[in-house]
Formats: sequence, structure tokens, C-alpha cells
Amino acid sequence: MAKYLPEPFRIKMVEPIRLIDMQSREDALRTAGYNVFGLHAEDVFIDLLTDSGTGAMSQHQWAALMEGDESYAGARSYYRLAEVMQEITGFRFFMPTHQGRAAENILSALLVKPGQYVPSNMHFDTTEANILARGGRPTNLVIEEAFEPANRHPFKGNMDLDKLRHFIQAMGVENISFGMITITNNAGGGQPVSMENLRAVSAIYHEFGLPFFIDACRFAENSFFIKQREPGYAHKTILEIAQETFSLADGATMSAKKDAIVNIGGFLAMNDEALFQNARNELILREGFPTYGGLAGRDLDAMAVGLREGLDEAYLAYRLGQTAYLSERLLESGISVIQPSGGHAVYIDAGGLFPHIPQGEFPGQALVVEMYRRGGIRAVEIGSVMFAHPDPDTGEMQYPKLELVRLALPRRVYTQSHLDYVTDTLAEIASDREQVSGLRFTYAPELLRHFTARFEPV
Ligand code: F0G
Repeated sequence: MAKYLPEPFRIKMVEPIRLIDMQSREDALRTAGYNVFGLHAEDVFIDLLTDSGTGAMSQHQWAALMEGDESYAGARSYYRLAEVMQEITGFRFFMPTHQGRAAENILSALLVKPGQYVPSNMHFDTTEANILARGGRPTNLVIEEAFEPANRHPFKGNMDLDKLRHFIQAMGVENISFGMITITNNAGGGQPVSMENLRAVSAIYHEFGLPFFIDACRFAENSFFIKQREPGYAHKTILEIAQETFSLADGATMSAKKDAIVNIGGFLAMNDEALFQNARNELILREGFPTYGGLAGRDLDAMAVGLREGLDEAYLAYRLGQTAYLSERLLESGISVIQPSGGHAVYIDAGGLFPHIPQGEFPGQALVVEMYRRGGIRAVEIGSVMFAHPDPDTGEMQYPKLELVRLALPRRVYTQSHLDYVTDTLAEIASDREQVSGLRFTYAPELLRHFTARFEPV
């Protein structure tokens, strides 16, 4: 059998992209304050900024849009989504939200009291920010292997179970709002969490009476990794693995812009009825009526179809094959990437690539800027720009353990030759790395600063 499976689809509609010249790219960078979030997307040749909302919908999803019921309350679209939600997640209650962070906001607003901790393997930045915004303390307790880029542990997203137990005991259960886990672990390389670990995490949270919520953005990719790598799961379907995953938790937040392959959407789901009633009131206040939650009826239909498509095995094999391909080609070119490759993205160890740039001068951001300058490629820093922050008790700057650059692959969008171009560009950068210098802030907001910060070269 071929090592990498080709796309299990053919292309019916195309969107032109163009590579503007080097001088124009340099001008664009300067205008954007060396923050690629500030670029005009049409000036980007290959956009690996995110896999969020950037996927290509299928003909079935486009067709479903036409069926959208735009009734304010009780739309058919809602009931179609509810049926899929029930089948896949099994949670008693759910509400659509316009995206993942809206679900995180509602959950944090209801459960987090100032000073309380929220443990997880690793929180994504929006989750972290939503907890912080309520005065809470997001805490990351992923296994140590997650911080060793070359370690090929099959489930590097796993929670460190001893750390979790000790943490809950040391902080006191009354100082913890609820427990989370992120699948796959985006902030730690898109690495999966095993079912064994999910089961144990669930048992620990429940032993202490803590509600357990899954950040389920990439639950289908996580399920596929479980099928491939965990003993006892090879013969289960992805749907069965997803069902088992959700059965361990009391609820979930999800950005449907990932594994449900829609351009906008998300949900908050749970089993607790009282919590649901409060959440529904928050939803009405902030998002919309509970049967549409800030989305159009057609968005709910696209989500319902996408949730099922995301579980398709031929699709997942191609998808995870694409990240594995990119990762292997980069390794062959001598570029250190987090191993094994993640589900939705390949993470370059920018700290390792640019040892001459100190963490305070953002080696990851320097690589992001250089990729755009050289090749019109847009990627995202997942390092000190995103995560360095002063300790709330001591005020001392806390740097993340790794300075990464994420190449996120939109779903069903780019082909292998796009990925080859990306590899060639990175190989060129690596061959004259000494010429690349660091950056410093000229503007940085307090929360989620990577989106709007501005820089200048050091
Ligand atoms: N949780 C995880 C693990 C995520 O990756 C994201 C989004 C969110 C929550 C928030 O969802 O964007 O719909 O509000 N991640 C995107 C990314 C932005 O590029 O990784 P959202």
C-alpha cells in the first residue's frame, strides 16, 4: 500500500492564489508591524496561519446550506444538528455558539470564581484568556514528554496523572472550578490524548467531585490517533471512539471550525441541567436564542453534515497523512519539528533553529516573519509572543518551555506540491539562518496579544 494516501476527493471549484514579489512582501510586513495577522490575506501565497474555519466544505455541506431554516426559534436546522450531537457526543444538553471561545466564555462566566484554578493538559490561548478574564488561574499539567521535541511518545497530549492528583490535593478542591483536557493538545503540538489517559483523568476529577469538560475542537483527529496507536482500538470505528471519549466527560466546548469543517460555529454541551439553564441564559444574553446561538440556520446544517464528515476514516487517513508528510520532509531538510507529527499541524522548533535569538526577542516570531518574507507563507508563532506573561504573584516574566512555529493545515485545501514549496522555503531559511534577527514589541495588549501586537526588528 502507498505510504501517503492521496486526497479522497477531487477538486470541483478553485480559488486563485498569487505570490507577490519580494519588495511588496517586505512593504506588507512593515505595514503590518511584523505581525502576520495584520497582512491582507490576498498578499499571502500559502496560508498556514490556522486550520480554524479555513477548511473546504464538501458538496454535501454546500447543499445543506440551502436547506437552512432561518426561523428565530425551533428551526429544523437546529433539530438536525441536535440529532448529530446526540449521536456523537451523547450529552444531554447542548447549545450552538458562534465559535469555540463563546462556549469558553459562558463556561468560565458560570463556573470560575476569582482565584480558582482550572487544570488541563494545556489550555489553548482563548481558553486561558477566558479563565483569566474571570480572575481564574488556568494551569497546564501535561506530561513532561510534551516538552521534548524529539520524543516520539504516541500520546504526548496526555495529562500527567500524578501531577493532577497532587495539584488538586495541594490547592484544595474548593479552589478548583472544574477540570479540562484539550484534544488534541493544540498548544503542545497537536498531540493526542489516549483513551486510557482520558479515562484516568475522568476518574480523578470525579473522585474529587469536579466537573470534567473536554475542549473537543479536534476530537475526530484524536479518535483517529487512538485507533492507530492505542491497543484495543484498531477495530473500533471513529464514531465509537468519539462516543467513548465524550462518555467520560460531563460536558464539552468545541470550535466547530476545526473537526466539523465549517467556516464558523461551535457548541457548549453538558449533562448538568441546572448548569445548562444558567448557560442558556448567558447564551441568550451574549449570543442568541438557544436554537441558533449566534449562527444562521444554514451554519447549523453545515455543522451537522461536517461533524459526520470529520469522522470519515478515508478523510482522516489522508488528513493525518498530510501532516506526517510535511513533518518528514522538513526533518529530511534538517529542520527540527515536534515529533511525532501532530494532527492538524506541524510545529517547528524555532528555538532550536535560531539558537542565536534569545526568548525575549521571539525566535518563533522571527521565523514567521522570515517565512513570509522569503516565500509568502503565513504561519503562526506559538511561543513567547503568545504565552510569555508575568507571574501573578511575583511579577517575574514566565517564558514557555518551547518556542514553536505552527504550520497549520486547513482541511481539504492544499495539495502535496503546496507542501513541497513550504519545505523548500524552510530549507532555504535554515541554510542561512544567521542572517535572521529577533524582534521587539512596539505595541502589546495585555490579553491575546499575538493577534494585534506590533514589532520592529532588533
Ligand atoms: N480550543 C482550541 C484547542 C483551539 O485550537 C481553539 C482555536 C479554540 C479553543 C477556540 O476556538 O477560535 O472557534 O473561538 N484555535 C484556532 C487555532 C484559533 O488557530 O488554533 P475559536
